[in-house]
Amino acid sequence: MIKVRVPGTTSNLGSGFDCLGLALTIYGEFGFEETESGLCFSGVDPQYQNEDNLAIASYRKVKEEAGFGRKYGLKLSIKSDIPISRGLGSSGSLIVAGAVAANISCGNALSPEELLDIAAGIEGHPDNVAPALLGGFTVALKDEGRFFARRCLIDERLKFCALVPDFEVSTRKAREALPSAVPFSDAVFNLSRAAMMVPAMASGDLKLIALAMRDTLHQKYRAPLIHQFEQVRSACLASGAAAVFISGSGPTVMCIYENDSFPCTMESELSAMHDRWQAIALKPDMHGATVLEE
Ligand code: HSE
Repeated sequence: MIKVRVPGTTSNLGSGFDCLGLALTIYGEFGFEETESGLCFSGVDPQYQNEDNLAIASYRKVKEEAGFGRKYGLKLSIKSDIPISRGLGSSGSLIVAGAVAANISCGNALSPEELLDIAAGIEGHPDNVAPALLGGFTVALKDEGRFFARRCLIDERLKFCALVPDFEVSTRKAREALPSAVPFSDAVFNLSRAAMMVPAMASGDLKLIALAMRDTLHQKYRAPLIHQFEQVRSACLASGAAAVFISGSGPTVMCIYENDSFPCTMESELSAMHDRWQAIALKPDMHGATVLEE
């Protein structure tokens, strides 16, 4: 059996739509075992027990790209703390797990760059799979059909609090909420801030991070999909959050904070909302996908 641990991620970080991402200390463990034929699952919801399962699809894709056929069955077991469809990179974690495990099974035939390219191709955008694979804070882009990513410095002491509601928002719906064109001034607003995020994250300067996170490209269009978003955001800021942003395509609301009591305070603040919100304290994960057993 090949066992891989993959971190959850937060992406966009406000201004860096589809390009900035960060691995976080919340994990899934994925076991893969090749069998004679068929599929077998453990710890997987019945609706995902098929060939469309992203971990299975990426496992097969990597083996095919490495020149191995499809004539094998697979047993997939999952134990994951990454909430599903909440904007914390659960689908990216499945894709990266399948890609890394398949590459191990064929003697690391593919390079990390090729794995990233395949994984991001399956997800459609690179900002979750890049940090899930590489760990840390990443910048990624797509050029002429190929994906590229690099790790950047981050102050590892930064503290993140994921506020995770008990409702889902699908990435497809969240992308449909976006306009097909934006004013030139909005594009300039974001690109200057996304660029500033690189030195801001390296320095850990919370004021600079908050400035760099401001966004005009996506969050205002997606906010209506997140129940009581404005109240949640105001409660975060009133409780001392240094910065607040929608994690990936939502609905998780992510805060950067200083005071250790912040997650506890938020959980009690949000207990008055219509939906149930859970506060999870997280740090940057610096390891990315890790092979536990091979
Ligand atoms: N950058 C993507 C989005 C992340 O915001 O739609 C979703 O996984």
